[in-house]
Amino acid sequence: MTRGGALAVGIVFVCAAGAVAAIAFAWHPAIDEITPPAPGSFDRYLVAEGEDLANLGNCAGCHTSEPSRPLAGGRALDTPFGKVFATNITPQADDGIGAWSSEAFGRAMRRGIARDGRQLYPAFPYDHFTHATDHQIAALYAWLMTRRPIAGRAPEPQLAGIFAFRPLVAAWNLLYLDEGPLPTDGSRPSQWNRGRVLAEGLGHCSGCHTPRDRFGAEDVARAYDGAWTEGWYAPPLNAHSPAVQPWTPEELQTYLHTGLAPHHAAAAGPMASVTRALAQVPEEDVRAIAVYISSLMADAPASKQDKPQPVDRLAVAQQQHPEAATLYAGACATCHDPGAPMMQQGRPVLSWATPLHEASPHDTVRVIMQGLTPPGGSSGPTMPAYADMLSDQQVQDLAAYLRTRFTDKPAWSDVPAAVAEARK
Ligand code: HEC
Ligand code: HEC
Ligand code: HEC
Repeated sequence: MTRGGALAVGIVFVCAAGAVAAIAFAWHPAIDEITPPAPGSFDRYLVAEGEDLANLGNCAGCHTSEPSRPLAGGRALDTPFGKVFATNITPQADDGIGAWSSEAFGRAMRRGIARDGRQLYPAFPYDHFTHATDHQIAALYAWLMTRRPIAGRAPEPQLAGIFAFRPLVAAWNLLYLDEGPLPTDGSRPSQWNRGRVLAEGLGHCSGCHTPRDRFGAEDVARAYDGAWTEGWYAPPLNAHSPAVQPWTPEELQTYLHTGLAPHHAAAAGPMASVTRALAQVPEEDVRAIAVYISSLMADAPASKQDKPQPVDRLAVAQQQHPEAATLYAGACATCHDPGAPMMQQGRPVLSWATPLHEASPHDTVRVIMQGLTPPGGSSGPTMPAYADMLSDQQVQDLAAYLRTRFTDKPAWSDVPAAVAEARK
């Protein structure tokens, strides 16, 4: 055989071996179906604990599309590769996970493999849930299995080309899945370690706050560096945090538990859903998350600054954006200007709002157009939705006005695009 021929045979052999290994790796046995366990067979305290954990993971945020059909799935998640639908995770035997044993459920949470052996797509954040403890997974199982069974299946994923081939996810897992509970960092207090397990595990905070690479995996080198999600920008929660006031553990705890904090913008968009769920989580767990996450921001500019003063460049903003200034005085000042009743009740001035300080205007534009309802069902001032009351041009001018008046950052360049996108 010539050297070229031997090489060709060698390459074919290596490829074939690789393919066999890949298939062997991607193949997982089905786990036998069970008869759905009687709800009464679960310990009531374990079920209650599972409910807290389901709120921490905001399972319902993705798995509920119609409020009357909790956890029955059907909500579409947009990924760069196409749409994936959250499935029915009620204990219905045919369409939900009623026939799943605790072993099958644990394998899905830890390794992203369904009961029948299929690979699940990482739009389901099992790359985080894998860090949950065995006890947490048992509690979640007990809670899910005691919910109301609801029939009906979610649509199949709509993914482009090769991404529709589920076994491919096995390769993704090989590269990116760091399976199992997190090791304890002995140099840190136990509350910090507890917060880390809750935030990195079921809380999956970095699932939205960390940018992803071209295979849709979180870029660990840029952990918590800010990322796009559902048209919103989840700002950095590390040394790059653009927050003007420091995120102390106290402010962060209040924010996560209520959606509001004395020196920060209200939680909006996808974060409003997260804080509404966290409102149901025990205070000490939220406290632990706040301790861990605020430690990531210890080197952020706000943490190093002594008593920041609010920027209010009223005259400059009036001169640069006269029409928006008039509009603001008529439509917004009754709530947002210093002295307004809302301000007297302790709501923050707009200078403290992170969205105005972000490099992109998207979050600001979305808040103006979509408004804000008080998070956590609390009564309190509501921000009206202006999408139907203002023209695109007016929203653009207002965003530019807010940026000039309440920050000392350069003007945004892409406001029209942000408004057009929010209109869609
Ligand atoms: C960010 C959205 C999101 C969140 C939050 C989420 N899931 Fe899911 N989950 C999905 C998607 C999407 C799928 C379907 C993946 C697929 O089709 O491959 C899924 C699938 C599952 C499955 C497999 C079910 C099946 O029929 O194959 C289980 C079990 C599950 N999720 C449990 C949970 C639990 C428990 C929580 C909360 C701790 C949770 N999920 C939170 C998006 C989410
Ligand atoms: C579903 C996506 C998503 C998840 C999960 C998520 N966030 Fe957010 N978060 C966002 C978005 C989007 C924003 C910006 C919107 C806004 O201004 O409220 C945000 C804003 C924030 C802010 C405000 C930052 C600032 O300077 O104003 C904090 C703090 C925060 N998130 C912490 C967390 C923590 C802690 C977790 C985990 C418990 C978490 N987030 C999970 C999407 C998410
Ligand atoms: C009826 C009262 C009301 C009016 C009128 C109003 N807002 Fe708001 N706005 C709110 C509330 C409440 C929040 C949430 C702030 C909080 O509670 O901390 C908010 C939040 C915001 C935010 C996000 C920053 C933050 O602090 O959460 C921006 C930006 C904003 N408003 C701009 C405007 C603009 C521009 C107008 C006029 C077009 C306007 N608002 C009119 C009540 C109002």
